[in-house]
Amino acid sequence: MSINVLLVGAGEINFGSVEGPWNHSLRLERKLGDRLRVVALVDPDISRAKAAIEYKLAGLTAKAYQDCHAYATVKLAADSLSAENNNQPQLAILGAPPVVRGSDIPGRDLELQVARAFPECALFVEKPVSSGPEDACWRVAAELSKRQTFVSVGYMLRYSRGRKIIADNKLVVMGTNARYVMAYEYARKLSWWDKTSSGGPIVEQATHFCDLSRYFGGDVSLPSVTAHTVEHYDAPGVLSAKRFDEEDIAPERRLPRLTSASWKYVNGAVGALTHVIALHGTTYDTEFEVYADGYRLKLIDPYGKPVLSVRRPGLEGEEIITFSDDDPFYTELSTLIDALHDPAMRDRILSTYGDAVKTYEFVSGARSRSHAALHRLL
Ligand SMILES: NC(=O)c1ccc[n+]([C@@H]2O[C@H](COP(=O)([O-])OP(=O)(O)OC[C@H]3O[C@@H](n4cnc5c(N)ncnc54)[C@H](O)[C@@H]3O)[C@@H](O)[C@H]2O)c1
Repeated sequence: MSINVLLVGAGEINFGSVEGPWNHSLRLERKLGDRLRVVALVDPDISRAKAAIEYKLAGLTAKAYQDCHAYATVKLAADSLSAENNNQPQLAILGAPPVVRGSDIPGRDLELQVARAFPECALFVEKPVSSGPEDACWRVAAELSKRQTFVSVGYMLRYSRGRKIIADNKLVVMGTNARYVMAYEYARKLSWWDKTSSGGPIVEQATHFCDLSRYFGGDVSLPSVTAHTVEHYDAPGVLSAKRFDEEDIAPERRLPRLTSASWKYVNGAVGALTHVIALHGTTYDTEFEVYADGYRLKLIDPYGKPVLSVRRPGLEGEEIITFSDDDPFYTELSTLIDALHDPAMRDRILSTYGDAVKTYEFVSGARSRSHAALHRLL
């Protein structure tokens, strides 16, 4: 039986990028094959949406897109997708920027627009859940829960096999340490470099590692978070390989180059994060460590060629585990689609909307609650 999919956002997360492996349409095609039927692509940038559909129609998976039309808004799509023609979406992939999601403010309420227009439709929502006020996220969470909307959030690293091995050890975690060094040379989207639209590098990017930190360390004591940054105006903050003009962004909106943060988890463990915009080319350098009595587990390069390095009791050296065929982007969508068919599998969704709001609160809560230290994470 085919699955009707509504794609929201004609950008890189849904259709791919030179910057990284993300590309939801490709994973949907791989998972569903002939069963994939994309019924609409919503994007206010209609020419970008039409170009994305035309590109697909010229490729090997054209059949999945033969009924797909571009719409500027969810409402226009809803007006056209009739139940009689079996056009109602069963799954919507929300790959628009966070500034238009995660709130109940009209125009910034994509989840609610889709859930209200298509009450039976499951949602896959990209991270971060928002770049706006957290209390609005909680109102969205409440309405989605009341409507019993089935939601999964795109924290794909929770589905990586390295993560699973760490989790299977069932350790009492003493600390976590995340290191994320971004390659910025080909990151040319002005909106990404403008913290008022992207939310900033911690909310937008390091959020994956902040989320993994929460996954292993548990809830974070928000008042404990402290951070220091190297800003664009600090002497060490000069970046020489930018391929865009940062002068087009007002100075107060420009991104910090380095953020060093630490915090206490509610259970007493300690977490740390270093995020840096420093490398040239396209290859990121990322590592995530977990410490416990007798253990140091280090997940290296979870985006690229993941490796898990383990020090455990009784072992002097490190054990190296590699994962040649691990594709967490595929696993997260595959898990969601399996759970769509079989509600008994819904507990396999590792990132629920409410939990993802807690990650968002962790990285951005300061704006509404004025924790000066957390504020600096932005
Ligand atoms: N999980 C990952 O590794 C990963 C990677 C890339 C992006 N993302 C996330 O995906 C989201 C989108 O990022 P992107 O790189 O695709 O951005 P993008 O700028 O390439 O594309 C976003 C598209 O959304 C469209 N859009 C804006 N408002 C809209 C609305 N109201 N309705 C529908 N479409 C709208 C824009 O016109 C644009 O075409 C962000 O939240 C980002 O953090 C996640």
